[in-house]
This record gives sequence, structure tokens and C-alpha cells, in this order.
Amino acid sequence: MKKVYIETYGCQMNVNDTEVIFSILAAHGYTRTTEIADADVVMANTCSVRDNAEQRIWGRIDQFQYLRKSRPGLVIGILGCMAERLKDRLLESGKVDIVAGPDAYRSLPALLEAAGPGHPQINVLLSRDETYGDIAPVRTDTNGVSAFISIMRGCNNVCSYCVVPYTRGAERSRDYHSIVREACDCFEKGYREVTLLGQNVDSYSYEGTGFAALLAMVAEIDPALRVRFATSNPQDISDEVIYTMAGYDNICKHIHLPVQSGSNRILEKMRRRYTREWYLDRVRKIRSVLPGCGLTTDVIAGFCSETEEDHRQTLSLFEKVGFDTAFMFYYSERPGTLAARKYPDDVPLEVKTRRLNEIIELQNGLSLRSYRADIGKTYRVLVEGPSKRDASCLCGRASNNKMCVWPDTEHKAGEYVDVTVTDCTSATLLCKLK
Ligand code: SAH
Ligand code: SF4
Ligand code: F3S
Repeated sequence: MKKVYIETYGCQMNVNDTEVIFSILAAHGYTRTTEIADADVVMANTCSVRDNAEQRIWGRIDQFQYLRKSRPGLVIGILGCMAERLKDRLLESGKVDIVAGPDAYRSLPALLEAAGPGHPQINVLLSRDETYGDIAPVRTDTNGVSAFISIMRGCNNVCSYCVVPYTRGAERSRDYHSIVREACDCFEKGYREVTLLGQNVDSYSYEGTGFAALLAMVAEIDPALRVRFATSNPQDISDEVIYTMAGYDNICKHIHLPVQSGSNRILEKMRRRYTREWYLDRVRKIRSVLPGCGLTTDVIAGFCSETEEDHRQTLSLFEKVGFDTAFMFYYSERPGTLAARKYPDDVPLEVKTRRLNEIIELQNGLSLRSYRADIGKTYRVLVEGPSKRDASCLCGRASNNKMCVWPDTEHKAGEYVDVTVTDCTSATLLCKLK
């Protein structure tokens, strides 16, 4: 039995893909190891979304070469988005034996079989219909409480800065029968939360079933199974989805709604198909139908041609909305994207960094304000396990996705507990049992 070690980088979709890969490999006699020192096969499931993500992987590939010295038969593989984007360049480096893109994982057993010293193997074909719908992922998360379920793959949006449509191909939705079956299976195995994953979940469509109907189907499985989802695109999030969320207690009240910029001029250049006004209107709708709904976002500072005025528009949108948390980046040009072909990357790095820092500083204050506003409230949380910082405390998230920590030695992972918020940081609610 050959042992396989996989490191996962990038988004939740990659985490789930690694679980699919382990399932495919297990069916061909491979076992999973979490110890790189024990492995016969060492692979990285990679991300290309920003240049520094790729630089990190190149560094890691160099480190893998040292392992080869003591283990001559070791097979080194690069999977995922960077495999798709850099294909031949990875092979030509002479440092890797396998290169497999996001739609090529079914061929991994054959690639592993064929790979040998001087015989690197590659498959980076993208597919129109691969969803791995029939494959039961081998859950690699350790808490045994929450699981990721991919409901679609690829992306058809072609936002001008983004490499994802090139690395993951065209959008396709997975058969809802297999999604519901997988969610049921998770529940039976003791999982109490599933997160439905897609680059743009609101465009889910399979034989006439849209995302709102899918959400309802998964929510119907059992009231004790929580349902989360990501990512919602502001252009597509529908009233129907918002009302469906309101209709089920077990659909968590949290929406990750990446805004990217607060300036209409920049949004247009990004090829995001909404305006600042549309975005703010969606936020108003969400807050009126779902009071207390958690709202988080992604933002890019210093996109091509961004002026101080554009940047101020982003800051003012952040203030207006008051997100709970945000993932904040400065623009990283990705070769081959529309922006790279059309617009010069003309905001100097020090300006990008300064603007990013201003957004981060503003958001830190807004996060603290948002978390403070919860002091005194009581939340039902799903216990995920012991807190990392303090073993006498448990942790788990409230419906709005905020992490709660409270002293508790009685309850177990997978149970629901009511807690009252007594204090907070800008990222955690400190609570006591109700
Ligand atoms: N499908 C999701 C985003 C996936 S990528 C959506 O549309 O919201 C995750 C985040 O990475 C994006 O929301 C964006 O904020 C950031 N990102 C993508 N491309 C980037 C780039 N070239 N430079 C900097 N950040 C980028
Ligand atoms: Fe990238 Fe836009 Fe697709 Fe998101 S919606 S993955 S940002 S192209
Ligand atoms: Fe990265 Fe690919 Fe996900 S580029 S963010 S791993 S879709």
C-alpha cells in the first residue's frame, strides 16, 4: 500500500477537491498519511489566485527536492489551479513527476502508475461536465462536525482580474440528487453542518432546479443539520435565496458577498456586473429580511488605474456596510486575464500596500464594532471542539458565522449549545453557557 501525503493551498474548493482525490486514490490501493516523512507520494493541491500564492508553492517544490535525496523513489505531484496554469513550465523544471489539473483527478491512479524517474506525467484537460458527483469524498477535516460539499465547478464570469475561469474552466452544476445524497450521508455519519461550495452559487442550475430550491432540499434533510454556502455574487444573489434563508432556521444567516471595490468606475473595469448602488441595495434587502445576518466580503486594493477617489469610495462603502470580517488583498496581475491584456498594472506597489493597510485598519475597527454589538446576546452554537488556545474551553460558530469560545467541559463536538456573549475581540465572541 503506497502512502500519499497531500498539502492543500487556496480556497475551500481545493480542500474539498483533496478529499475527492483521496477517495479516488483509496479505490486504487493508496492510503492517506499526514506525515510527509512516511509518504511514497507527496503532492500539493495548489492555488494561482495571486502571485504570492504561486511563489510559495515554488518554494515548497524546492523543499520537496530534499526529500528525494533520502527517498529516491519518491513521487512528487502538483495538482490544482497552478498545475492547470503552468502546465509545461512545471514539467520543464524537472522537479515534479505529476502535473494534474482540477478536472483530471480521475486519471491520477494511471498517472501515478506511469510516472517514474525521467517519465513525468501530465493531464491538464479541462472538462465541460466533470463534477465528481459520484465520488464520496474522504473527509480530511478533523472536527467531524462540518463538511464541504461542492455543488458546482468552474466559473463563467470572467471578472477581468481573475484567473479562476482559466484554471477551473467553464461553470457546470452537479446533479442535485447526488448533492442531497452526500448531505444525508454526512448527517448519518454525525456531521451537523454542510457548506455548499461554488464560485457563484446563485447561478447553480441542474435540470430546472436553481440554488434556492437546492438550499431548501438540503435544509429539509433534518432540522439538526445546519446549511451554509459560499460564494454569493452580488450580481446574482436573488430575493428567492434570501427568503429561502428566512424560511429555515437551519440555514445559517451568513452571506459572503465579495464587493471587490466601492467605485463604479473600477467595478466596471473589473467586469463585475453590478454597481455600488446595487450592492448597497442588496445589503439593505438582506438586512431587512434577515435581521442580524452575518455579512463578510472580499476586496482588492489598487486595481489598474485606481485613483485616491476610487479608493475613498471603497472605504466609504466599507463604513456604510460595516462588514463583520473581510478578506483584503492588493491587486496581483495574473498573466492571460483580461486585465493583464488590456490594462497596465499602474498603481505602484507602495500605493497598493498603503491603500490595503487603510482598508485593513478601517475594517479592524468595524469588526470590533460588529462583535461588540453582540455582547449580551444569546446564540445557539454548534460545538466544533476544544478551543485551540484553551483546552478548558469549547468553540463553535453562531449562525452568523462568528466564532464563539466559552468555558465548558461537559459538551461534545456536534452538540448544540446556547451561549451568552460576555465580551469579545475583533474576531471572537467570548461567551458563557446560558
Ligand atoms: N468566486 C469568488 C472569488 C474567488 S477568488 C467571487 O467571485 O467572489 C477569491 C478572492 O480573491 C476574490 O474575491 C478576490 O477578492 C481575490 N482575488 C481574485 N483575483 C485576484 C487578483 N488578481 N489579485 C488580488 N486578489 C484577487
Ligand atoms: Fe473569479 Fe469572478 Fe468567477 Fe469569482 S466570479 S471566480 S472573481 S471570475
Ligand atoms: Fe485559488 Fe483555484 Fe481556489 S486559484 S482560490 S485554488 S479556485
